[in-house]
Amino acid sequence: MSEPKKLYIKTYGCQMNVYDSERMSEALGGQGYVETKSPDDADMILLNTCHIREKAAEKVYSELGRFKGLKADNPDLKIGVAGCVAQAEGEEIMRRQPLVDLVVGPQSYHRLPEMEAKTRTGEKALDTDFPEEDKFEKLKNRPKAKRGPTAFLTVQEGCDKFCAFCVVPYTRGAEVSRPADRIIREAQDLVERGVREITLLGQNVNAYHGAGPNGEMTLAGLIWELNKVDGLERIRFTTSHPNDMSDDLIEAHGTCDKLMPYLHLPVQSGSDKILKRMNRSHTAESYLRLIERIRAARPDILMSGDFIVGFPEETEEDFQATMDLVEEVRYGYAYSFKYSTRPGTPAAERPQVDAEQADDRLQRLQGMITRHQREIQESMVGRKVSVLFEKPGRQPGQMVGKSEYLHAVHVASDAPSVGELRDVRIVASGANSLAGELL
Ligand code: SAH
Ligand code: SF4
Ligand code: F3S
Repeated sequence: MSEPKKLYIKTYGCQMNVYDSERMSEALGGQGYVETKSPDDADMILLNTCHIREKAAEKVYSELGRFKGLKADNPDLKIGVAGCVAQAEGEEIMRRQPLVDLVVGPQSYHRLPEMEAKTRTGEKALDTDFPEEDKFEKLKNRPKAKRGPTAFLTVQEGCDKFCAFCVVPYTRGAEVSRPADRIIREAQDLVERGVREITLLGQNVNAYHGAGPNGEMTLAGLIWELNKVDGLERIRFTTSHPNDMSDDLIEAHGTCDKLMPYLHLPVQSGSDKILKRMNRSHTAESYLRLIERIRAARPDILMSGDFIVGFPEETEEDFQATMDLVEEVRYGYAYSFKYSTRPGTPAAERPQVDAEQADDRLQRLQGMITRHQREIQESMVGRKVSVLFEKPGRQPGQMVGKSEYLHAVHVASDAPSVGELRDVRIVASGANSLAGELL
């Protein structure tokens, strides 16, 4: 038998790309590839790109340029670009960087094996269509490799919301949901391979409306079905839009035992004027009332969010409204970004906020978020949590895992095995993790 070919994948962006990279690796596994950790000995290099930040495409071009030497040393090396920059730039990538053999958009990964074969004949392969078939179903024939205790599972893709700053509706296309039976089968398969916790993924995961046995199913309906999967211990989902937070999903947070008390619910701004200009179709007030209802269903739920500062026309007063909202919600985690223009989105045409002012606001917002994060972490000290252990810690004799609130927790013991759930008493709070003792 010939030696396996080596595949190097570099993944940027959101968890959906992480999931997609795993699927691409499995698809190319069928073509005789095994993954390698370095581009130096690879027969195929794939960049799975993200388009959400400024100059994303430029960074991809400069990264590609660095592979020139490798290609000179190994003429059989194939170079591919996948993900959201591939979708946005398409053929232009091959025009600007002739080193590239293959460009594949996020909806076409099931066609990778044919595309790879085409590159082996010396041709270029390009596919950025939005085909009708379920790409994940086509990617199914994968080896039953053992898995770690946590996994992502994409249930929904694309977005119809068209927030004025965002490229996702253009790069990932219209909102589509996978049928429930396929998701359940995939979950069962993951559990057989060692997975204990599944995070359901979608750009708008709570808009899920996949086909079920009795018509369309909501995300809550899907979660209740997954709750029945033996051996699966924890369910999470991300990312949600406030407008799709339906009553049955809020209720599930109070009643579904495997659904974890953590919710990522981006609001982006606390100013109604800015929210309107962002095309978010909710107000600060409606968001706060929504959180009240979620907390009534599950009082200890840990909230997380995303913020954009310096959106076009944001004044100091608008920014203060964001600070007020953060003060009121108190997030356990939050991600804040300085607005960056994405060509082709409506906000790109509008007058921009002064860069220094935006930096200053970002610092103030992050200061407040970090303070809340610390306070919430410290409030865990003395409490009993359940930890799913994932791996040995940095110090010898340590094990680390995640609590139900997604806090990293380490214990000074190697007794828990990987994939085991144990009760732990929190004894101290550090910068980015909690220390605990096994109970
Ligand atoms: N579908 C999710 C996440 C989309 S992208 C949602 O609706 O929340 C993840 C985050 O990136 C967004 O929540 C937003 O805060 C940030 N983001 C998206 N486009 C941006 C831009 N042009 N500039 C700065 N931040 C942006
Ligand atoms: Fe982008 Fe999320 Fe808005 Fe959709 S809902 S356009 S993915 S920020
Ligand atoms: Fe980036 Fe595409 Fe995800 S733009 S955030 S990789 S959906």
